[in-house]
Amino acid sequence: GTTLKAAAERSGRYFGMAMGADRLSDSGFQTIARREFDMLTAVNEMKPDATEPNQGQFNFTNGDRLYNWAVQNGMRVRGHTLAWHAQQPRFWGSLSGSALRTAMINHINGVLAHYKGKMFQWDVVNEAFAENGSRRSSNLQATGNDWIEAAFRAARAADPSTGLCYNDYNIENWTYAKTQGVYNMIKDFKSRGVPIDCVGLQTHFTGGSSLPGNFQTTLSSFAALGVDVVLTEVDVTNASASQYQGLTQACMNVPRCLGITTWGVRDSDSWRSSESPLLFDRNSNPKAAYTSVLNAL
Ligand code: XIL
Repeated sequence: GTTLKAAAERSGRYFGMAMGADRLSDSGFQTIARREFDMLTAVNEMKPDATEPNQGQFNFTNGDRLYNWAVQNGMRVRGHTLAWHAQQPRFWGSLSGSALRTAMINHINGVLAHYKGKMFQWDVVNEAFAENGSRRSSNLQATGNDWIEAAFRAARAADPSTGLCYNDYNIENWTYAKTQGVYNMIKDFKSRGVPIDCVGLQTHFTGGSSLPGNFQTTLSSFAALGVDVVLTEVDVTNASASQYQGLTQACMNVPRCLGITTWGVRDSDSWRSSESPLLFDRNSNPKAAYTSVLNAL
Protein backbone atom coordinates (compact mmCIF):
# COMPACT_ATOMS: atom_id res chain seq x y z
CA GLY A 1 0.00 0.00 0.00
CA THR A 2 0.96 3.65 -0.17
CA THR A 3 1.78 6.10 2.60
CA LEU A 4 0.73 9.62 3.58
CA LYS A 5 3.94 11.13 2.25
CA ALA A 6 3.86 9.20 -1.03
CA ALA A 7 0.25 10.21 -1.59
CA ALA A 8 0.96 13.87 -0.75
CA GLU A 9 4.05 13.93 -2.96
CA ARG A 10 1.99 12.89 -6.00
CA SER A 11 0.63 16.46 -6.03
CA GLY A 12 3.89 18.11 -4.93
CA ARG A 13 2.69 18.43 -1.35
CA TYR A 14 4.17 17.16 1.92
CA PHE A 15 2.70 15.35 4.92
CA GLY A 16 4.30 16.34 8.21
CA MET A 17 4.26 15.60 11.91
CA ALA A 18 5.35 17.28 15.12
CA MET A 19 8.08 15.52 17.11
CA GLY A 20 9.57 16.26 20.51
CA ALA A 21 13.15 15.46 21.48
CA ASP A 22 11.80 12.78 23.85
CA ARG A 23 10.76 10.78 20.78
CA LEU A 24 14.41 10.52 19.64
CA SER A 25 14.57 7.46 21.91
CA ASP A 26 11.17 6.05 20.92
CA SER A 27 11.63 3.48 18.17
CA GLY A 28 7.88 2.86 17.84
CA PHE A 29 7.29 6.53 17.04
CA GLN A 30 10.22 6.61 14.63
CA THR A 31 9.07 3.57 12.67
CA ILE A 32 5.79 5.28 11.76
CA ALA A 33 7.37 8.70 11.32
CA ARG A 34 9.95 7.41 8.85
CA ARG A 35 7.42 5.43 6.88
CA GLU A 36 4.63 8.00 6.60
CA PHE A 37 5.95 11.57 6.96
CA ASP A 38 8.30 13.87 5.05
CA MET A 39 8.19 17.08 7.15
CA LEU A 40 9.06 17.66 10.81
CA THR A 41 8.07 20.41 13.23
CA ALA A 42 9.66 20.50 16.70
CA VAL A 43 6.95 20.43 19.39
CA ASN A 44 8.79 22.77 21.81
CA GLU A 45 12.50 22.70 20.98
CA MET A 46 12.69 25.69 18.62
CA LYS A 47 10.50 28.03 20.67
CA PRO A 48 12.06 31.19 22.15
CA ASP A 49 12.37 29.84 25.71
CA ALA A 50 14.21 26.77 24.40
CA THR A 51 16.56 28.49 21.96
CA GLU A 52 17.52 31.58 24.02
CA PRO A 53 17.06 30.72 27.70
CA ASN A 54 19.27 33.64 28.76
CA GLN A 55 19.77 36.90 26.92
CA GLY A 56 22.26 36.41 24.11
CA GLN A 57 22.95 32.78 25.09
CA PHE A 58 21.48 30.55 22.44
CA ASN A 59 20.94 26.81 22.88
CA PHE A 60 20.25 24.74 19.78
CA THR A 61 21.06 21.33 21.25
CA ASN A 62 17.62 19.73 21.03
CA GLY A 63 16.59 21.73 17.98
CA ASP A 64 19.63 20.45 16.15
CA ARG A 65 19.06 16.86 17.28
CA LEU A 66 15.57 17.01 15.76
CA TYR A 67 16.76 18.84 12.65
CA ASN A 68 19.52 16.29 12.03
CA TRP A 69 17.20 13.34 12.64
CA ALA A 70 14.75 14.78 10.11
CA VAL A 71 17.35 15.32 7.41
CA GLN A 72 18.86 11.86 8.00
CA ASN A 73 15.40 10.44 7.40
CA GLY A 74 14.70 12.40 4.25
CA MET A 75 12.44 14.99 5.83
CA ARG A 76 12.35 18.75 5.60
CA VAL A 77 11.76 20.95 8.66
CA ARG A 78 9.34 23.76 9.53
CA GLY A 79 10.68 26.12 12.18
CA HIS A 80 8.27 26.84 15.03
CA THR A 81 8.31 29.62 16.31
CA LEU A 82 10.23 32.94 16.60
CA ALA A 83 7.83 35.31 18.40
CA TRP A 84 4.85 34.33 20.56
CA HIS A 85 3.12 35.50 23.75
CA ALA A 86 3.71 32.05 25.30
CA GLN A 87 6.85 30.00 26.00
CA GLN A 88 9.00 33.11 26.09
CA PRO A 89 12.45 33.29 27.68
CA ARG A 90 12.13 34.44 31.26
CA PHE A 91 14.22 37.53 30.55
CA TRP A 92 11.62 38.82 28.07
CA GLY A 93 9.31 39.12 31.07
CA SER A 94 11.46 41.78 32.64
CA LEU A 95 11.75 43.82 29.43
CA SER A 96 9.30 46.17 27.76
CA GLY A 97 9.12 48.83 25.07
CA SER A 98 12.13 49.25 22.82
CA ALA A 99 14.26 46.90 24.96
CA LEU A 100 11.80 44.05 24.42
CA ARG A 101 11.46 44.91 20.73
CA THR A 102 15.23 44.79 20.37
CA ALA A 103 15.38 41.49 22.27
CA MET A 104 12.80 40.03 19.87
CA ILE A 105 14.77 41.19 16.82
CA ASN A 106 18.03 39.88 18.31
CA HIS A 107 16.32 36.56 18.98
CA ILE A 108 15.13 36.29 15.38
CA ASN A 109 18.61 37.18 14.11
CA GLY A 110 20.30 34.64 16.37
CA VAL A 111 18.00 31.74 15.53
CA LEU A 112 17.89 32.43 11.81
CA ALA A 113 21.68 32.83 11.62
CA HIS A 114 22.00 29.34 13.11
CA TYR A 115 19.46 27.74 10.76
CA LYS A 116 20.22 29.89 7.72
CA GLY A 117 19.39 28.09 4.47
CA LYS A 118 18.10 25.00 6.27
CA MET A 119 14.41 25.49 6.99
CA PHE A 120 11.52 25.06 4.57
CA GLN A 121 9.48 27.67 6.45
CA TRP A 122 9.36 29.46 9.77
CA ASP A 123 6.33 30.37 11.84
CA VAL A 124 7.71 33.88 12.42
CA VAL A 125 4.83 35.04 14.60
CA ASN A 126 2.41 32.71 16.38
CA GLU A 127 -1.08 33.45 17.75
CA ALA A 128 -1.05 37.25 17.71
CA PHE A 129 -4.82 37.71 17.29
CA ALA A 130 -7.69 37.58 19.79
CA GLU A 131 -10.94 35.74 19.10
CA ASN A 132 -12.73 39.01 18.28
CA GLY A 133 -10.34 39.74 15.42
CA SER A 134 -8.30 42.44 17.12
CA ARG A 135 -4.72 42.03 18.23
CA ARG A 136 -4.20 39.84 21.28
CA SER A 137 -2.82 41.89 24.15
CA SER A 138 0.67 40.76 25.13
CA ASN A 139 4.02 42.20 26.11
CA LEU A 140 5.02 42.07 22.42
CA GLN A 141 1.84 43.86 21.30
CA ALA A 142 2.58 46.52 23.93
CA THR A 143 5.81 47.36 22.11
CA GLY A 144 3.69 48.81 19.29
CA ASN A 145 1.27 47.55 16.64
CA ASP A 146 4.12 47.24 14.14
CA TRP A 147 5.83 44.44 16.11
CA ILE A 148 4.61 41.78 13.70
CA GLU A 149 5.88 43.48 10.57
CA ALA A 150 9.15 44.26 12.36
CA ALA A 151 9.53 40.54 13.06
CA PHE A 152 8.88 39.62 9.42
CA ARG A 153 11.28 42.26 8.06
CA ALA A 154 14.02 41.06 10.41
CA ALA A 155 13.39 37.44 9.44
CA ARG A 156 13.58 38.17 5.71
CA ALA A 157 16.87 40.03 6.16
CA ALA A 158 18.34 37.27 8.33
CA ASP A 159 17.43 34.34 6.06
CA PRO A 160 16.08 35.24 2.61
CA SER A 161 15.77 31.55 1.69
CA THR A 162 13.11 30.43 4.18
CA GLY A 163 9.36 30.86 3.84
CA LEU A 164 7.97 33.29 6.39
CA CYS A 165 4.59 32.32 7.85
CA TYR A 166 2.04 33.86 10.18
CA ASN A 167 0.53 30.97 12.24
CA ASP A 168 -2.66 30.91 14.33
CA TYR A 169 -5.60 28.79 15.54
CA ASN A 170 -9.33 29.36 15.06
CA ILE A 171 -8.73 30.97 11.68
CA GLU A 172 -10.21 28.06 9.70
CA ASN A 173 -13.81 29.30 9.55
CA TRP A 174 -14.07 32.02 6.91
CA THR A 175 -16.96 33.83 8.62
CA TYR A 176 -15.20 34.04 12.01
CA ALA A 177 -13.98 37.45 13.20
CA LYS A 178 -10.48 36.19 13.98
CA THR A 179 -10.08 34.79 10.47
CA GLN A 180 -11.06 38.18 9.06
CA GLY A 181 -8.64 39.97 11.37
CA VAL A 182 -5.72 37.85 10.19
CA TYR A 183 -6.88 38.12 6.56
CA ASN A 184 -6.89 41.92 6.78
CA MET A 185 -3.38 41.96 8.24
CA ILE A 186 -2.04 39.74 5.44
CA LYS A 187 -3.80 41.90 2.85
CA ASP A 188 -2.25 45.02 4.40
CA PHE A 189 1.22 43.41 4.49
CA LYS A 190 0.99 42.41 0.82
CA SER A 191 -0.20 45.89 -0.20
CA ARG A 192 2.70 47.59 1.65
CA GLY A 193 5.42 45.11 0.70
CA VAL A 194 5.95 43.67 4.16
CA PRO A 195 7.66 40.31 3.51
CA ILE A 196 5.33 37.37 4.15
CA ASP A 197 5.09 34.08 2.25
CA CYS A 198 2.56 31.89 3.99
CA VAL A 199 -0.24 31.55 6.49
CA GLY A 200 -0.22 28.58 8.86
CA LEU A 201 -3.65 27.40 10.00
CA GLN A 202 -3.13 25.31 13.11
CA THR A 203 -6.38 23.38 12.48
CA HIS A 204 -7.03 22.15 16.02
CA PHE A 205 -10.57 21.03 15.31
CA THR A 206 -13.09 20.28 18.01
CA GLY A 207 -15.96 19.52 15.65
CA GLY A 208 -18.80 21.18 13.84
CA SER A 209 -16.77 23.11 11.31
CA SER A 210 -18.33 23.23 7.88
CA LEU A 211 -15.96 21.15 5.83
CA PRO A 212 -14.71 21.27 3.23
CA GLY A 213 -16.59 24.26 1.75
CA ASN A 214 -16.12 26.97 4.35
CA PHE A 215 -12.56 25.90 5.15
CA GLN A 216 -11.67 25.76 1.47
CA THR A 217 -12.99 29.32 1.07
CA THR A 218 -10.62 30.43 3.83
CA LEU A 219 -7.65 28.70 2.20
CA SER A 220 -8.43 30.03 -1.29
CA SER A 221 -9.09 33.54 0.05
CA PHE A 222 -5.71 33.69 1.78
CA ALA A 223 -4.06 32.20 -1.31
CA ALA A 224 -5.66 34.87 -3.49
CA LEU A 225 -3.69 37.47 -1.52
CA GLY A 226 -0.49 35.91 -2.88
CA VAL A 227 0.61 33.71 0.02
CA ASP A 228 0.88 29.95 0.41
CA VAL A 229 -1.24 28.21 3.03
CA VAL A 230 -0.23 25.27 5.22
CA LEU A 231 -2.12 23.25 7.84
CA THR A 232 0.41 23.30 10.64
CA GLU A 233 -0.87 21.51 13.78
CA VAL A 234 -3.80 19.35 12.77
CA ASP A 235 -5.66 17.34 15.39
CA VAL A 236 -9.39 16.57 15.55
CA THR A 237 -11.53 15.54 18.51
CA ASN A 238 -11.94 11.75 18.39
CA ALA A 239 -10.17 11.82 15.01
CA SER A 240 -13.45 12.19 13.14
CA ALA A 241 -12.78 10.50 9.80
CA SER A 242 -15.17 12.83 7.97
CA GLN A 243 -13.51 15.93 9.41
CA TYR A 244 -10.06 14.65 8.50
CA GLN A 245 -11.33 13.83 5.02
CA GLY A 246 -12.87 17.30 4.67
CA LEU A 247 -9.82 19.24 5.79
CA THR A 248 -7.59 17.19 3.51
CA GLN A 249 -9.96 17.70 0.59
CA ALA A 250 -10.01 21.44 1.22
CA CYS A 251 -6.22 21.56 1.03
CA MET A 252 -6.12 19.40 -2.10
CA ASN A 253 -8.59 21.73 -3.83
CA VAL A 254 -6.40 24.80 -3.31
CA PRO A 255 -3.20 24.80 -5.40
CA ARG A 256 -1.36 27.03 -2.92
CA CYS A 257 -2.10 24.69 0.00
CA LEU A 258 1.36 23.13 0.21
CA GLY A 259 0.93 20.49 2.89
CA ILE A 260 -0.52 19.18 6.11
CA THR A 261 1.15 18.53 9.48
CA THR A 262 -0.46 16.61 12.34
CA TRP A 263 0.54 17.65 15.89
CA GLY A 264 2.09 14.32 16.79
CA VAL A 265 1.83 10.83 15.27
CA ARG A 266 0.00 8.53 17.74
CA ASP A 267 -2.73 9.56 20.19
CA SER A 268 -0.23 8.96 22.97
CA ASP A 269 2.00 11.71 21.51
CA SER A 270 -0.74 14.35 21.52
CA TRP A 271 -1.11 17.38 23.81
CA ARG A 272 -4.84 16.49 23.55
CA SER A 273 -4.29 12.77 24.12
CA SER A 274 -7.55 12.35 26.10
CA GLU A 275 -9.38 13.27 22.87
CA SER A 276 -7.53 10.67 20.76
CA PRO A 277 -7.18 13.23 17.96
CA LEU A 278 -4.46 11.80 15.72
CA LEU A 279 -4.21 9.34 12.82
CA PHE A 280 -2.53 6.47 14.73
CA ASP A 281 -3.73 4.86 17.96
CA ARG A 282 -1.68 4.09 21.06
CA ASN A 283 -0.69 0.73 19.57
CA SER A 284 0.65 2.41 16.44
CA ASN A 285 -2.22 1.18 14.30
CA PRO A 286 -3.69 3.49 11.65
CA LYS A 287 -7.24 4.61 12.49
CA ALA A 288 -10.24 5.14 10.21
CA ALA A 289 -9.18 8.78 9.85
CA TYR A 290 -5.86 7.62 8.40
CA THR A 291 -7.64 5.87 5.55
CA SER A 292 -9.90 8.87 4.93
CA VAL A 293 -6.88 11.18 4.68
CA LEU A 294 -4.99 8.79 2.43
CA ASN A 295 -7.98 8.49 0.11
CA ALA A 296 -8.38 12.27 -0.07
CA LEU A 297 -4.72 12.98 -0.91
C1 XIL B 1 2.13 22.88 22.61
C2 XIL B 1 2.96 21.64 22.85
O1 XIL B 1 2.37 20.56 22.13
C3 XIL B 1 3.01 21.33 24.32
O2 XIL B 1 3.94 20.27 24.57
C4 XIL B 1 3.46 22.56 25.11
O3 XIL B 1 3.35 22.29 26.49
C5 XIL B 1 2.60 23.75 24.77
O4 XIL B 1 2.63 23.96 23.38
N1 XIL B 1 -0.29 25.98 19.39
C6 XIL B 1 1.04 25.97 19.06
C7 XIL B 1 1.94 24.92 19.59
O5 XIL B 1 1.46 26.79 18.23
O6 XIL B 1 3.24 25.40 19.80
C8 XIL B 1 1.40 24.35 20.87
O7 XIL B 1 2.23 23.25 21.25
C9 XIL B 1 -0.04 23.92 20.70
C10 XIL B 1 -0.90 25.10 20.35
